[in-house]
Amino acid sequence: MTAREGGGRRPLIGTGLEEEATFEYDVREYPWREVIQSILEVEGMPLEELHKTEEAKLHLLEAGDKEFQQGWGPGRRANPFLRKWKTFWSRDSTVQDPRTKRFNDLLHRFVRDFISPRMGNETIIYQREPTLRVVFPSPFVPGKRHTDSEYHHQPAEVNWWFPVSCRVWGTNSLWVESEPGKEDFHSLDLKYGEVKTLGRSHRALYMSVTVRLQVCRFYGNQCVHYCEPNSTEYTRVSIDLRAIPLSKFDPLYSHRSDRVSFRLGGYYLSTHGIGGESSRPPHQQRSTAPEAPGGIIGSSFPTHY
Ligand SMILES: [Fe+2]
Repeated sequence: MTAREGGGRRPLIGTGLEEEATFEYDVREYPWREVIQSILEVEGMPLEELHKTEEAKLHLLEAGDKEFQQGWGPGRRANPFLRKWKTFWSRDSTVQDPRTKRFNDLLHRFVRDFISPRMGNETIIYQREPTLRVVFPSPFVPGKRHTDSEYHHQPAEVNWWFPVSCRVWGTNSLWVESEPGKEDFHSLDLKYGEVKTLGRSHRALYMSVTVRLQVCRFYGNQCVHYCEPNSTEYTRVSIDLRAIPLSKFDPLYSHRSDRVSFRLGGYYLSTHGIGGESSRPPHQQRSTAPEAPGGIIGSSFPTHY
């Protein structure tokens, strides 16, 4: 398998979406951190300090086994916070949990109002269950160097990547090349932090403080990306979310070795309803598409860095 599978197809050429770009927003509009904290049951706790919890310490103590050192296998799956995340998504869909609605509403609104204007103002096909990363400080490499095409994602897919811990940089972030084949690897240095600005009213100067999140869009389908062992003293908690402009989406895209069907209504949702008939948020959408062989939600989806 080559690093840039996809049959040489370049559906995004000329759209500008192959190039890396960073954007900012006010987290009062999109409170990702609070939503993730509630799902991980660590409300109010700084996410960059998750490695200091008793459950994380126990996990790291047990992390000496060989498979974990290779970055995959039981070590990663045993990460107590990723287990919570997985459990949250693999529950019976009839479970009434206000966190589900809150998450889905936030995701839908974020894709419709923030991502779509930065992808040509189109209807966006997006990953129903974004991938959460919780990377503790450790000497082990979390995952393999790759492109997402190696995992059979279709070639028009773009990655939106952002931290929910306070800051990611260097070895506690993701390393990417800025365009396919450019090999100018660099870490995504992004913040979820305060921005202070001076303003002036008719009487006085004043300081206003907003909390802004930086989010990176990169073409992970064809740009190689990887992680280094996190040698900082901070846990990285980040989200990656795949998105495709509707005009570039191939509903029949498949790969001979697919274990999972990347179909609308399965892995993907649409900002305008699965069948295109509405713009209802996901918890109100009924799947009209064939269910993915591996099930609609959760653990069967491949996860990787
Ligand atoms: Fe990836």
